[in-house]
This record gives sequence, C-alpha cells and structure tokens, in this order.
Amino acid sequence: MPVRQATEDDQTQMSKLAAEAFFDDELFGDVIHPHRKEYPEDTYLYWLARLRQGWSDPNNYFFVSTAQSANGEGEQIAAWAQFLRKSKSAKKETAPPDVSDLPPNRAASKEREDILERQYEYIAHEWSGSRAECWDIIWLATSPAHQGRGHGRALVEWVVEKATQEQVPSSVISAKGKDGFYNKMGYTIPTGKAWEPETNPLYGLVEGGQFWWRESHLKSAESASK
Ligand SMILES: CC(C)(COP(=O)(O)OP(=O)(O)OC[C@H]1O[C@@H](n2cnc3c(N)ncnc32)[C@H](O)[C@@H]1OP(=O)(O)O)[C@@H](O)C(=O)NCCC(=O)NCCS
Repeated sequence: MPVRQATEDDQTQMSKLAAEAFFDDELFGDVIHPHRKEYPEDTYLYWLARLRQGWSDPNNYFFVSTAQSANGEGEQIAAWAQFLRKSKSAKKETAPPDVSDLPPNRAASKEREDILERQYEYIAHEWSGSRAECWDIIWLATSPAHQGRGHGRALVEWVVEKATQEQVPSSVISAKGKDGFYNKMGYTIPTGKAWEPETNPLYGLVEGGQFWWRESHLKSAESASK
C-alpha cells in the first residue's frame, strides 16, 4: 500500500476526505456538526483548520495512503493519518497558523465546535509517567470508497514501526465502533475514556472514546511476558 508523507498541497483533499469519513460519526457528526445536512459542503472547514494548526507543530507527522484514481491517471488520496510524537522535551511549537481566511463553518454548533480543545485538560494525564514519551494517533481516516482495503492498517503500521524503533508506547482514542480495528493493530490495553469524568464537556454526549495503548512492541513488555 503506497504511503507517503503528506504535503501542504494535500490539506484540502485530506480535509474533504475526513469530512466524508466522519460525516455521521457520533462526535464529529451529531455533536460538532448538527447542521451538516443543511450545509454538507461546510464540514471540511473543521478539518482544514485543524490540519493547519497541526502542521504548525513540528512534532506532528502527516501521512497519506494512496490509490490509483478511477481513470487510471495519477494518484488519489485514499486515507490519511496524523501522528504526534509526545515528549517532555518536545520541540517548541511554532505560532498558531492564521485560519481567519476560512469562511465560517455553518454546519458546526457554535457552542461545541471547540469541544475537543476544551476537553483536552481532562485527558492530558493519560500521557504522563512512563507514557509521557509516546506516539499518539491523533487522526486516522479512510475514505468510505476505500475502506476495507488495508489503507488504515498501512498507516498505523508506520507509527507502530516508529514506536518500536524508539521503544516508546503508542496510544489512540478510538471512535465509536472502531475498537476492533485498533485491537487488531495491537492497541489492546484499555485505560480511560475520553469523556470522563462528569465535569468533562464530552460527558453524556458520546459512547465511543476509549483510550487504547499498544505496548507489546516494547522489549520490557516482551521480557515481562516470558
Ligand atoms: C477505522 C478506519 C480508519 C479503518 O480503516 P480501513 O482502511 O477501512 O481499515 P483496513 O482495511 O486497513 O482494515 C484493517 C483490518 O481491520 C479490520 N477492521 C476495519 N474496520 C474495523 C472495525 N470497525 N471493527 C473491526 N475490525 C475492523 C479490517 O477488516 C481489517 O482486517 P484484516 O486485516 O483481518 O482483513 C475507517 O473505517 C475509517 O476511516 N472510519 C471512519 C473514520 C474513523 O472512525 N476513524 C477512526 C477514528 S479513531
């Protein structure tokens, strides 16, 4: 499966792909974009703003998995992922990008568009102690037309290889219905839920959001199981 590093020119295609893949997701659909049926063309703006923000932090890595386009001429992005190398000694973030040129996202709920940014302080403790140094899967999306063909696996394999080389754990927060996929990829240690505790702004709004850790690639995990 051809996987390559994404470029800034890919951002619009990547955001449109994510908008399609997450259109009816409980969080990115119902909670964040309640007006998406009225303004279906707007939801990609959510992803484009976050992609630009992510690009401004050098600890983020963006990859795409590609397929031949339908007419056989050139490539098409079938899936993409954002991985974050979390570290106590992380390289300094650059200034946030200007997203003021983007039109307002009419599909989004004004109160909930930034719910993930507000929820972060309730889950930050997951990445501490022996898990402060790790690779986190921030986003992963395969376009509906290309699902079930190994693109998601190919992208996750990149981050697993990095985590193995560096001997650090890897984490993900699974969307509703996606636990089985991540379990297959070796993310089998469940810890918290992204909507806990009761004061978390996501509390009561979603059923998915399980934290999963992959540690079987760590030499210490291997020797512990012997
Ligand atoms: C989850 C997602 C990324 C999987 O991508 P994909 O490209 O379809 O997955 P792959 O084809 O690489 O699947 C790899 C394996 O996982 C299995 N799998 C895929 N989705 C699964 C699911 N929801 N539950 C259980 N197993 C699943 C496949 O059957 C395959 O198994 P196999 O290797 O034994 O044949 C994709 O369904 C998606 O983008 N969904 C919408 C957005 C989303 O929820 N992203 C995840 C956010 S946490």
